[in-house]
Amino acid sequence: MSKYITTPIYYVNGEAHIGHAYTTFIADTMARYEKLKGEDTYFLTGTDEHGQKIEESAIKNNKSTAQFADEISATFKNLWDEFDICYDKFIRTTDEDHKRGVQKAFEVMYAKGDIYKDFYEGHYCVSCETFFPETQLIDGQFCPDCGRATTIVKEESYFFRLSKYEGALLKHYADNPDFVLPRSRTNEVINFVKTGLRDLSVTRTSFTWGVKMPESLNDDKHVMYVWLDALMNYITALGYGKDDANMRYWPASIQFVGKDILRFHAIYWPAFLMSLDLPLPKHIGAHGWWTRDGEKMSKSKGNVVAPKEVADAYGVENLRYFMLREVPFGQDGDFSQRAFIDRINSELSNDLGNLLNRIIGMSEKYSDYEINSVDVQKYHKKELDAMNIVLDSLDSLMQQVQAHRYLEELWKLFSIGNKAIEEHAPWVKMKNGKKDEAAATVALVANILAKAAIMLSPVMPKTTNIIADALNFTIDNISYRELVLDRKLLKLFSIKKVPPLFPRVEEPLMPEAPAAQPVLLKEESKNTIESIKEQDNLIEIGQFFKTSLKVGTVLEAEEVPKSTKLLKLQVDLGDGRIRQIVAGIKEFYSAESLIGTQVCVVANLKPAKLMGMLSEGMLLAAKDEDGLSLIRPEKPKKAGTPIG
Ligand code: MSP
Repeated sequence: MSKYITTPIYYVNGEAHIGHAYTTFIADTMARYEKLKGEDTYFLTGTDEHGQKIEESAIKNNKSTAQFADEISATFKNLWDEFDICYDKFIRTTDEDHKRGVQKAFEVMYAKGDIYKDFYEGHYCVSCETFFPETQLIDGQFCPDCGRATTIVKEESYFFRLSKYEGALLKHYADNPDFVLPRSRTNEVINFVKTGLRDLSVTRTSFTWGVKMPESLNDDKHVMYVWLDALMNYITALGYGKDDANMRYWPASIQFVGKDILRFHAIYWPAFLMSLDLPLPKHIGAHGWWTRDGEKMSKSKGNVVAPKEVADAYGVENLRYFMLREVPFGQDGDFSQRAFIDRINSELSNDLGNLLNRIIGMSEKYSDYEINSVDVQKYHKKELDAMNIVLDSLDSLMQQVQAHRYLEELWKLFSIGNKAIEEHAPWVKMKNGKKDEAAATVALVANILAKAAIMLSPVMPKTTNIIADALNFTIDNISYRELVLDRKLLKLFSIKKVPPLFPRVEEPLMPEAPAAQPVLLKEESKNTIESIKEQDNLIEIGQFFKTSLKVGTVLEAEEVPKSTKLLKLQVDLGDGRIRQIVAGIKEFYSAESLIGTQVCVVANLKPAKLMGMLSEGMLLAAKDEDGLSLIRPEKPKKAGTPIG
């Protein structure tokens, strides 16, 4: 049976960080594991290049969208190449074949009656490229996923009949409890579906950087919604809509995603596939979120961990090992140099590296580098049995994507090896003239190392090749079958001396993350000022003055029926036109307490509708864990006084 493994395709609005590297490492490890087992495996990664977000990033960078997308896409591809990621295809959603495949899928769904034209009015988050129902917004306005302000968008749109697939999706989750891995994430998906699926707007007229509509629909105004476009990459990469050349790999065996995009992959994607009459992926593997030293990573904090920087300092394979070993799949993880260094020193250097060095050293001393497994069975049955139990446990752990458990189990092999050396003390045996016994112990450990190297190779391919080279064998499907499945031992061979694989790390090799505090401009060096300017949250003063901030006097205030959050205010801004402002402050202020007080208002916001009521401005407020506090002038000011 063939295997198909995918990563999400990465947005080209910024360069890769360790979150992206993590998804790619897990998928690469899984693909290498399947390839090692001799499975016919296809591994896909790539970049997601359409949509308003990319268009806006290109403008910010003063580049054409196409050029910007080309450049950032290349940074991902180059990084994965440098990291030796064994992908079979790197797809770009700007590839012509992909675009044609998306159009074909659209046509099929349209012909089936699963796509229809209507109007959409809703709260849209540009950053997440998603519409949200009002009930899900925070304080009636902010995106529930990223917290940024949403905008009201009304446009003609084609809709996908997502609602039609509610029952079929719920049945699929019930029939396939391992559809979402880890299983513990399934409930959030089921609950989302159970709250009711609304049909999904799958085209946009508000921007043009997207896949065009199929010619047969003759409707140039629209481009495809990025998520429809992006999700289809998993089949267009296999030739869907072109020649189906690799469609035999479908359905995917596992599709890796971060928990933030699970909904798209476990709900929308299966519904699209049902509509296309294609089978669903076997598993969606959702991993957790990485922080740095306990802090969320963000460009503005300057604490994003660049995978290349870590790899240059510590080695990419050490990073792979650390990330996979550190975090149970599905849970959030923290990147700290301390934890990383501890694992390098204790697990890689002590447990594995030293064992190899000891074997090389002993074979040099006792047998002129010659290793012979002839007596291993005779003297080390106990250890061989223990070793085989470990080896037998590994496959199911990898199939459940429990890489951290897999590595933990695998490390038991090194304990078995180290313990055998301590217990059997070959140096004593040599002294006592029991050369055969000493040679058997050395050979036992060499065999343990060989088998461990094979099983570790999907995680650390280059390092394990060096181990294999030292032990005079090659890691491939043949040695996997012989040494791991058939439990054979290495034949008589000469060991090769290799330099220590994991030099100890005494102190952090990268600068520590900047402390999480606001950046202040003092007597800074030019470099620092430049780097501050580069931060993406800085704006020009002119941009700031585009916002009209004014003092307003609250004339009336009342509660919005059925809303736990909203108050409706009538505010005087001094220009003779009373503004109605609907604000999410009910939990913190009573309506009466506001009447006659002053507030600070964003006065030139486009009007929006909140729970069906017009809102013509926004109040400034500060919110922390102690609650929300309105920002007000220190002394009374005339209504309409500008702030700035
Ligand atoms: N383009 C979409 C995916 C479309 S797939 C059809 C997207 N791209 S992304 O670049 O924003 O994110 C790609 C992957 O990186 C996601 O799986 C996301 O979860 C992961 N990560 C982004 N930041 C992360 C962390 N800080 N930690 C772990 N993974 C994170 O979403």
